[in-house]
Amino acid sequence: MKILAFNGGPRKTWNTATLLKKALEGASSKGAETELINLYDLNYKGCISCFACKKIDSKSYGKCALKDDLTPIFKKIEEADGIILGSPIYLGSVTGEIRSFMERLIFPYLVYDSEHSSLFKKKINTAFIYTMGVNEKSIDILGYDSHFKLNELFLQRIFGNFESLISTDTYQFDDYSKYVSSAFDPDKKAQRHKEQFPIDCEKAFELGVRFTDLK
Ligand SMILES: Cc1cc2nc3c(=O)[nH]c(=O)nc-3n(C[C@H](O)[C@H](O)[C@H](O)COP(=O)(O)O)c2cc1C
Repeated sequence: MKILAFNGGPRKTWNTATLLKKALEGASSKGAETELINLYDLNYKGCISCFACKKIDSKSYGKCALKDDLTPIFKKIEEADGIILGSPIYLGSVTGEIRSFMERLIFPYLVYDSEHSSLFKKKINTAFIYTMGVNEKSIDILGYDSHFKLNELFLQRIFGNFESLISTDTYQFDDYSKYVSSAFDPDKKAQRHKEQFPIDCEKAFELGVRFTDLK
């Protein structure tokens, strides 16, 4: 069993990356082969609307025709049993990098028909791990949940099972005293990081374990 995780944030050792690594640890504790791919290391753009993936008799029908660093990644995904996406929230949404990745990944498999068909050949488990500076209450107030729901709908429609993990009020700087950030109480942030983040890590680990139970 192969589980792939995609870090849609630029930092390789912080909140998002840590939770993705924990999820992969959970999957590998059950014998899965795992790989973490950092999207910021790859060169690619979002969908260019060429529609080669939708054109009748096109050799790229159901596939992304663009050739770049995502081409071998899409091959790996076709062979995978589960994919876990992770992203920090930037200006109320997932990062541009993961958004571009999702356009290229999802759109070719999405059929413009009334049955909402998917051209992805099997059902696999998918998950999205979100990390963000705001607290849980603000998710609803700021409308982040409707954005999360859309990601869920698309991933479910194309690939199958879906679950999400939301890590809020994350620790953002190595030392709050070095940055202009009076909106935050550094002690409360440190306490939250000490008490809640390990729980989120545990949840990520369990998510990875569940991933090996393919439905
Ligand atoms: C450019 C930028 C924009 C951000 N915008 C938001 C935001 O709109 N809402 C939020 O809750 N956090 C926001 N944050 C905070 C990050 O989402 C949060 O610190 C996240 O956990 C960072 O993930 P990382 O530690 O994996 O880099 C922003 C951070 C950056 C760098």
